[in-house]
Amino acid sequence: MEKNTKKYLILTYGCQMNVHESEKLAGILESNGYEVCTDATLADIVVFNTCAIRENAEEKIFGNIGELKNIKLAKPDMIIAIGGCMSQQKNYADEIMQKFPYVDIVFGTHNLADFENLLKEREKSGKKISRICEDETISLRDQMLISRTSGVNAWVNIMYGCNNFCTYCIVPYVRGREISRPVQDILKEVESLLKEGYKQITLLGQNVNSYSGVDSDGNVSSFASLLKAVDSFDEYKYRIRFMTSHPKDLSSEVIDIISKSKHICHGIHLPVQSGSDNMLKAMNRHYDINRYKSVVTEIREKMPDSELTTDIIVGFPGETEADFEKTLAIMRFARYMQIFGFIYSKRKGTPAEKMENQVDAKTKKERLSRLLALKNEIINEKTAKMLGQTYEVLVESYDKEKDVLFGSLDSGKTISFKGTENCVGEFLDVKVTEVRKSVIYGEIVQKDKIETYSKKNFKYPIEVSILPKEKNAMKILRENKRNKKINDNKKSKEN
Ligand code: 5AD
Ligand code: SF4
Repeated sequence: MEKNTKKYLILTYGCQMNVHESEKLAGILESNGYEVCTDATLADIVVFNTCAIRENAEEKIFGNIGELKNIKLAKPDMIIAIGGCMSQQKNYADEIMQKFPYVDIVFGTHNLADFENLLKEREKSGKKISRICEDETISLRDQMLISRTSGVNAWVNIMYGCNNFCTYCIVPYVRGREISRPVQDILKEVESLLKEGYKQITLLGQNVNSYSGVDSDGNVSSFASLLKAVDSFDEYKYRIRFMTSHPKDLSSEVIDIISKSKHICHGIHLPVQSGSDNMLKAMNRHYDINRYKSVVTEIREKMPDSELTTDIIVGFPGETEADFEKTLAIMRFARYMQIFGFIYSKRKGTPAEKMENQVDAKTKKERLSRLLALKNEIINEKTAKMLGQTYEVLVESYDKEKDVLFGSLDSGKTISFKGTENCVGEFLDVKVTEVRKSVIYGEIVQKDKIETYSKKNFKYPIEVSILPKEKNAMKILRENKRNKKINDNKKSKEN
């Protein structure tokens, strides 16, 4: 007989921070007896972990909450909870409740650790709950159970919040001020993850370079000291990555430590945002393009094998054609391995929202497509040079259907190659044998060793959607509802 376990569905939007916070939400739900499921028709609770970084993220989320209406009508007991950055914005909780009266719980970014209580409160009272806290409840958040499903990867928060107030950005308003976790807590978490077998640890923070947690002596530790400490578990083979770095704070000391480290990757994400000093100033970025270039040069000199990736915004208020051309120039200078290009999106309550000279939509779109064309040109050229080279690759996953392995280079670039599932979690030398534009394919160099690897039990995210994949699921749901009504009526007549 099938167990009657309650089921949960979490829909995650946005950055790595949110992916990891969804692992914490999953931890809460699993410790309360819930099991993961694949679509909302099967779920007893649906949680949206939302993003507010750009308008299109919000539009998508609102559309997805709308899709749940019919399912909720057929399953009135299903709980719908909306949390994360979108909910934390001023007046959004009320707006969500008004627009979507079938939503049961709205909670903010600082209420994550409280989610279990909110859930119990809702189950007990049956009343709608809206809880948006302005204070960070960090200590609680760090003690939460985490249901990790990122395969060989483990995310570790080193700090929360942001103090930078870039003029376009909503993050400081929805995630509060910077708070760093103590060094010992981070080291303990990293060591236990390595013991459990995770191979790639990513330190997370909005601006990791301004990390300032206390160490075991009660002194404030810099990011450089923290990096040195997380690099010291030499009994394990592993990689350390970190995101995100702010160019104003990435120090020579940090670059030195990375260049001399054993485990820290030389692939560094260094968002430039714009190549124009005027724009950087208007964005409140606190560096000019000469400073940025000198950081890039220092990284290259100390680590000739380093690879940079970046974020760029086009169409920030006041951006002229000449400003935009400077952005194209920095792309040519830094020769990024990956570029995340975004059209500037107005965010309510940020200084840039009120700036004059907003750039029209057509110009923004046109600039983004020019940026993407140059991005492809640079990346394709760099990728072509990889043909025939051998790289150390961390095997991250196995695709059963295609019978192919996926792995990552130190730079973060993905490669696919033939092999067996037991290779997942191993560091293998892989030779690049084929290049198609920016996509690379390879071949394991020492094939005779493959048999000696044992299969490991990494957990991966399951593919989830709001609506079911099978066509009949909604029909069955409606029939179930009708049958339940008939049964309930019968019972009440019998009584
Ligand atoms: N519009 C467009 N892009 C933005 N980003 C942050 N805020 C905005 C905005 N309002 C981009 C920045 C940041 C990345 C995570 O998202 O490039 O580095
Ligand atoms: Fe936003 Fe700037 Fe903070 Fe990054 S550093 S989260 S872009 S305010």
